[in-house]
Amino acid sequence: MAAGSGPARYAVVGNPVSHSLSPRIHAEFARQTGQALSYEAIELPLDGFDTGVRDLRQRGYAGLNVTVPFKQDAWRICDSLSERAELAGAVNTLVLSDNGETHGDNTDGIGLVRDLTVNLELALENRKLLVIGAGGAVRGVLGPLLEQRPAQLTLANRTHEKAETLAADFAALGSIDVCPFDELAGRSFDLIVNGTAAGLDGELPAIPEDLVGTGTLCYDMMYRLDAPTAFVDWAQRLGAARACDGLGMLVEQAAAAFSLWRGVEPDGAEVIAQLRNA
Ligand code: ATR
Repeated sequence: MAAGSGPARYAVVGNPVSHSLSPRIHAEFARQTGQALSYEAIELPLDGFDTGVRDLRQRGYAGLNVTVPFKQDAWRICDSLSERAELAGAVNTLVLSDNGETHGDNTDGIGLVRDLTVNLELALENRKLLVIGAGGAVRGVLGPLLEQRPAQLTLANRTHEKAETLAADFAALGSIDVCPFDELAGRSFDLIVNGTAAGLDGELPAIPEDLVGTGTLCYDMMYRLDAPTAFVDWAQRLGAARACDGLGMLVEQAAAAFSLWRGVEPDGAEVIAQLRNA
């Protein structure tokens, strides 16, 4: 490989990717920890992930974050995978070693768990959790959520069969209670995580409103800096104890990737506060 001289190079690859906050987040982590590195956002062609990564490796990049729509492609090209990435079927962090090996990890789930348990101070052990959605985003977080030993993890998805398949895939890690949207009415949860893509169109998953109690923390895995997401707005209107978007998860998944690459742990909470105030 042609590592070249100068600071170590990293990037987030996706399509589209120009909106990504990752360059700002990693620049701040580098400043905090005194690490010399560069971090860019690079758009790869939709049919050009493999060649794109090969090219970046040859140009000396030491690591990549991977975002939509390439997380499954990244999983496919790895020589080795962390256990959580293996289970998630998706990779958001690539380590490009000098010996030509590509290692894949998935830090999305630990990013979510860290935001919930450390930043928002919600212990998950023995709590009742509801996760909505059964796509790639949810697949990425189920393992780390189950590791927290909740009293119950309920999974609900618009297309019920997809939730059943997902629960079966994770059965070795813990039991998942699969429930259709319309049978959720009357149940209560300590935490409701929206992992659906509904918010991309400003929509809400059609879950019953009585789910949200005064003790419920509602968490949207999507985030917006300019306004509450549709799910956060819905939860606030229904009187949730707290309603949070996924900015903290984004920063904490980045912190875990940074620490994998650089061997030092940045302070995610400081960067979350900066982004909120900007
Ligand atoms: P991602 O990688 O973001 O998870 P995905 O794999 O396409 O994307 O999954 C999208 C998820 O959002 C699915 O669980 C989808 O529900 P279906 O399986 O029924 O398609 C969910 N979703 C998208 N739009 C939704 C909406 N308007 N209401 C409820 N769920 C929605």
